[in-house]
Amino acid sequence: MIYPIITAEEAAEFVKNGDNVGVSGFTAPGCPKAVAPFIAAKARREHEAGREFKINIFSGASTNDFIDGELTRAEAINYRSPYQSHPDLRKAINNNVIHYNDRHLSELSQEFRYNYYGKMDVAIVEAQSISDDGEIVLGTSVGCTPTWLMCADKVIIELNDQLPESIHGLHDIYIPLDPPNRREIPIYTAHDRAGSPTAHVDPKKVVGVVKTSFRLGKADAFTPVDETTRMIGHNVVQFLINEMKNNRIPKSFLPLQSGVGNIANAVLDSLEESDEIPPFEVYTEVMQDTFVKLLLHGHCKFVSTCSLTLAHDTMDEFFANIDKLHDKVLMRPSEISNNPEVIRRLGVLSMNTAIEADIFGNINSSHVSGTRLMNGIGGSGDFTRNAYTSIFMCPSIKKDDCISTIVPMCTHIDHTVHSVDIIVTDQGVADLRFKDPVQCAEEIIEKAAHPVYRPLLREYLKTCKMGHVMQNNEMALAFHVALAREGDMRKADFSKCCK
Ligand code: COA
Repeated sequence: MIYPIITAEEAAEFVKNGDNVGVSGFTAPGCPKAVAPFIAAKARREHEAGREFKINIFSGASTNDFIDGELTRAEAINYRSPYQSHPDLRKAINNNVIHYNDRHLSELSQEFRYNYYGKMDVAIVEAQSISDDGEIVLGTSVGCTPTWLMCADKVIIELNDQLPESIHGLHDIYIPLDPPNRREIPIYTAHDRAGSPTAHVDPKKVVGVVKTSFRLGKADAFTPVDETTRMIGHNVVQFLINEMKNNRIPKSFLPLQSGVGNIANAVLDSLEESDEIPPFEVYTEVMQDTFVKLLLHGHCKFVSTCSLTLAHDTMDEFFANIDKLHDKVLMRPSEISNNPEVIRRLGVLSMNTAIEADIFGNINSSHVSGTRLMNGIGGSGDFTRNAYTSIFMCPSIKKDDCISTIVPMCTHIDHTVHSVDIIVTDQGVADLRFKDPVQCAEEIIEKAAHPVYRPLLREYLKTCKMGHVMQNNEMALAFHVALAREGDMRKADFSKCCK
C-alpha cells in the first residue's frame, strides 16, 4: 500500500480548530469509529490550555457515539448537519450550545459541491479496502462519502478488518453532474445499478490509513412489536391491500420506502404475514433488521438503500447469507437513495413516522412541543414530497393518554398537507385524498384520533372561524398549553371560548 499507516491519535492531529469535517456513513453502520475520540481528546487538551477548538461535522445522517457522543461531551462541535439522533447532541442543540442545521438528506452533497458551506478540510471514511489508484470499497453504508472524497483537502481512511471482502459489489456509487449539466439519473427500477461498486479518491489527498477492528452493525435492537404498533402495521397493510383492490396500486405492486424505528418494523412484520401483498421491491434509505428476513423468505425481492442499518447479530446473519443476498441489495449515496427524481419516477409508497399530526393533515416529524428537537426531518421530506402515495404513522395517544398525537394545530410543521395523503394510527386510516380541509378534519378526527380525544377535537372545530381552513387562532394550541401547564392534553378547555 502506498499510503502511510498511522494511528488514530496521529490522524486526529490533521483536524484543526474551525475545520469542516465530513464523516462517512449513514446511521451508525458505516461511520468511522477510531479517530473521533482522539479529536475529542485533542479538543479537551486545547480547552484546558485556554485555546478554542471546535469543528463543524457533516455526515450522511445520524452517526454513532464515537462521533456525536464523544465530540459533544468534549464540547468540540460548533455546527452539525444534516441529521442526528444522539441524546447528548440533542441536549446540546436544544440548549443552543451547538448550531444544528436540519436538512433534507438528498440535498447536502450537492450543496457541498456548490460551496454552500465553504471547503471541506478533512474527510474521515470507514472502508473495506483502498487500492493504490484510489478505488475504495466502502463499509456498510454510503451517505455523502463520494462527495466528501471529491471535495475534501485531506482524507483519512479507517480500514476496518471486520468488513468482509464479500461486501464488494454491494455499493452503487453514482455522483450526478451538477446543474446546469445534470442528466436523468439512470434508475428505472429499484434494482437498476447506475454507477460503480467503488468510490474514488485522488490518492494524493489520503494523508493516512488507520487500521481498525470494529464489530459491524449497531448495538441497539428494536423494542418488540406491541399491541399499538401491531395495529398500526395491520392498518397500513390493509390500506395497501385496498389500494390494490381499487386499482390504485398495480397488481405487480410499487416500491416501498420504510422509515426507521419500531413502527416501521411493525409494518414490515405485518407485510410478512400478509399473503395478499405480492413480493415487492424497496427503494429506501435504511435497510433495517426485518428486511433480512423478508429477503431470505422471498417476501421482498430487492432493497435499494443508503445503509445496512442492522443490529450486530442481524449484520452477522446478513453476511453469513451473502451468497443468497448479494444480488438483492444495493447501497447508494444519499443523494441517489433519496433522490426526488427517482422516487417520483418509480412511484414509491412512502411510510414515515410523525411526532404529531394536526386535524388538517400537517405533520410534525421533528420538534416536540414545537421547540425541542427530537432527531430531525431526515429523509422523510425527500420521500413524502415525491411519493406516489405518502403515508404517515403514529400511535393515537402517548404517555398514559395525556398526549394526543392528533392535535388542532401542530406546534411545528415539517410536511404540509399538500404532500400528505394518508395518516394511520392504531385507530384506523384517515385518507386525505380528494378532501378539502374541513373534510380532512372530519376524516382525521373520526378515523385516526383516539376516542378519548374525539369529543375535544370536535368541540375545538365548533369554536373555529369559518373559512377554507377553519381555525381558532386563540385556541389552536390549547392542547399543547394544557400539556405544558397540567401535564395532560385532556385538560384543554374550549367551553368558554368565543369564535
Ligand atoms: N408530544 C410530546 N412528546 C412526544 C410526542 C408528542 N406528540 N411524540 C413523541 N414524543 C416524545 C416521546 O414521548 C419520546 O420521548 P421519550 O424518549 O422522552 O419518551 C420521544 O418523543 C420519541 O418518541 P417515540 O414514540 O419513541 O418515537 P419513535 O422512535 O417512534 O420516533 C420520530 C418517532 C418521529 C421521532 C422518528 O420517527 C423521527 O425522528 N422521524 C423523523 C426522521 C424520519 O422520518 N426519517 C425518515 C425515515 S428514515
